[in-house]
Amino acid sequence: MRIGVLTGGGDCPGLNEVIRAIVRKGVTNHGDEVLGFIDSWDGVMERRFIRLDVAGVRGLLPRGGTILGTRRGSPFDHADGLDRVRDCFDAERLDGLIVVGGNGSLTVASMLHDQIGLPVIGVPKTIDNDVVGTDTTFGFNTAVQVATDAIDRLHTTAESHNRVVVVEVMGRDTGWIATHAGLAGGATVILVPEEPFVIADVCATIERRHSRGRYASLVVVAEGARPVAGTMDVPEYSKDELGRPRLGGICVNVAAEIERRTGIEARVVQIGHVQRGGTPTAFDRVLSTRFGLEAIDAAHDGSWGHMVAVRGGAMTRVALSEVVGRTRTLDMSLLHGVADVFFG
Ligand code: F6P
Repeated sequence: MRIGVLTGGGDCPGLNEVIRAIVRKGVTNHGDEVLGFIDSWDGVMERRFIRLDVAGVRGLLPRGGTILGTRRGSPFDHADGLDRVRDCFDAERLDGLIVVGGNGSLTVASMLHDQIGLPVIGVPKTIDNDVVGTDTTFGFNTAVQVATDAIDRLHTTAESHNRVVVVEVMGRDTGWIATHAGLAGGATVILVPEEPFVIADVCATIERRHSRGRYASLVVVAEGARPVAGTMDVPEYSKDELGRPRLGGICVNVAAEIERRTGIEARVVQIGHVQRGGTPTAFDRVLSTRFGLEAIDAAHDGSWGHMVAVRGGAMTRVALSEVVGRTRTLDMSLLHGVADVFFG
């Protein structure tokens, strides 16, 4: 077969490992030719690609980012976008396309499958862990580990100074990273997008804690977390290339409010893209490798319009139509009942 592969959306540790697995199994076991499209859908529309062979994917296992480049945007943003995708498929005699992406890229893949019958297979990636249909996505474990390492370090300096440190992690719509890292790092409070927070309650918890002696307080906030409307200031955001708010900065408002209300010095640490960069954890290397192998097998089985997934530890496939347009929000029992036992 002649199979294309692209990476879309924000980058994520594990993308290169998926590419490597697709190429290794595709070329060696199936005798495939694999074309790697550069810069996501732009590469398909402009027919910019590299031929991927086994030698070309050597050394990728520990490497973060994506050798193919990635960006947001899709053929639907262009009047002739669908025609250009079709033309590319015909000209390059492609049998199928593996789309490695998060909710945005998988939605585009699903639409192209439904509207023009494009033979696509999805592979779920995102550090946010918010794709429906799979127990987890690759990149999430790495992001949680990076954030946890940072929180561990922050404890000692915060404790020495009796400070509050507000640590902001990514998580546009969901609090998976915040909750897992907060739980692993022993956070005082965790704030997530799924549940508007009451800053007075956050401050009461911190005051109670500090009244017992000298303490570090680590507040972990997801970038998408919001206070109950009208209770405190929130940042003004510029827009990203899709017109969505470019999140980041809620930690500053939360820290300022804590300091103002409690009188305890509060500092901020925005982990930002550090949690998305660099080498994937062993868990993510294994998961992304399994996803890549499953994706190339799915192409050979003709499972077009499906996404590979992990459920109960086993690889499976789920129809893209069941995945897109939905967000896998936090299992709130992790926050209420597990993490909050240790708050305060
Ligand atoms: O979608 C994953 C994500 O990491 C979000 O948590 C975050 O809002 C976004 O990407 C940031 O993307 P960019 O680096 O393109 O601004």
